[in-house]
Amino acid sequence: MDISLTEEGPTVSRIAHGMMRLSGWNADARGILELVERSIQNGITTFDQADIYGNYSCEELFGEALALSPSIRDRMQIITKCGIVLPPSCGNSIKHYDTSPEHITESVEKSLRKLRTDYIDILLIHRPDPIMDVEGIADTFSSLKRSGKVLHFGVSNFTPRQFEYLAERLDFNLVTNQIECSVLELSPFLDGTIDTCVRYRCSPMAWSPLAGGELFTGRNDRISRIRKTLEEIRIERNLRSIDIIALAWVLMHPSRIIPLIGTGNPDRVDRAVTAIDLKLSRTEWFRIWSASTGRDVP
Ligand SMILES: NC(=O)c1ccc[n+]([C@@H]2O[C@H](COP(=O)([O-])OP(=O)(O)OC[C@H]3O[C@@H](n4cnc5c(N)ncnc54)[C@H](OP(=O)(O)O)[C@@H]3O)[C@@H](O)[C@H]2O)c1
Repeated sequence: MDISLTEEGPTVSRIAHGMMRLSGWNADARGILELVERSIQNGITTFDQADIYGNYSCEELFGEALALSPSIRDRMQIITKCGIVLPPSCGNSIKHYDTSPEHITESVEKSLRKLRTDYIDILLIHRPDPIMDVEGIADTFSSLKRSGKVLHFGVSNFTPRQFEYLAERLDFNLVTNQIECSVLELSPFLDGTIDTCVRYRCSPMAWSPLAGGELFTGRNDRISRIRKTLEEIRIERNLRSIDIIALAWVLMHPSRIIPLIGTGNPDRVDRAVTAIDLKLSRTEWFRIWSASTGRDVP
């Protein structure tokens, strides 16, 4: 199932596949292509990248895989990000943000080369930069759009106010704010982040919707409590595993949040898409919410 992130597009799959961990999957180009094809067969056509993933290696690995089957590019949407700069292994530089027009433009050119594509479907500013110049970002987005190198633009980890400042300077829509959101990360439901997307009529994207795997491996009281509730619902609903419920919980929000799954395991990709058809009741949703907060709603 696909949805449109705003009334004017772009179309993305209801669940997207994140490529942040790709360099750790120990797969060659053929293996990566097989996983990408498996996702597409499951209806997951949107793939999330960033310039820095895998210490700047993941876009290139992904591009090498796509080069084995060039027509696959027409059946997918690629998201990538820029704005974080990792230091080289020597010298006195440190990790920092750069949202200058020069950096954004240069980063897009590098991403296009590494991904072996002519266009990026959606470009995101990876993190809000405390010294960002929103006018400069808006002008750069406009010029990249005119060039056809980037079709749509969004942000990631922006506060509501930062989102508004940039959105108001553009004569086209920001299409998403990609934020951390899961049964373990509730803050975007409460701090106005999701509400701002609703107000600007775009859908948020949820990174680490399974808390980066911590949902399964975490050992503290809170995680144990959430796991127990998910497990109870799993048994009541006769489901295969709790990851389906955790994804359905994110999918249920009316803003149509797009979860970005990060697994390199094809069986888990198959399982994840079944969450799209799982409709939780309000009571089930709040049982999970209350397990996460540790108390009933007031
Ligand atoms: N914008 C941002 O700032 C930002 C930040 C972080 C991430 N992201 C994006 O979000 C994507 C997803 O993030 P994520 O990878 O943290 O997502 P995630 O789906 O919450 O976590 C994936 C991790 O959980 C493990 N996992 C999944 N199902 C499991 C299960 N049933 N049992 C045990 N472990 C399981 C996976 O291992 P296996 O591979 O073994 O299944 C993988 O290590 C990233 O790829 C990236 O594209 C964006």
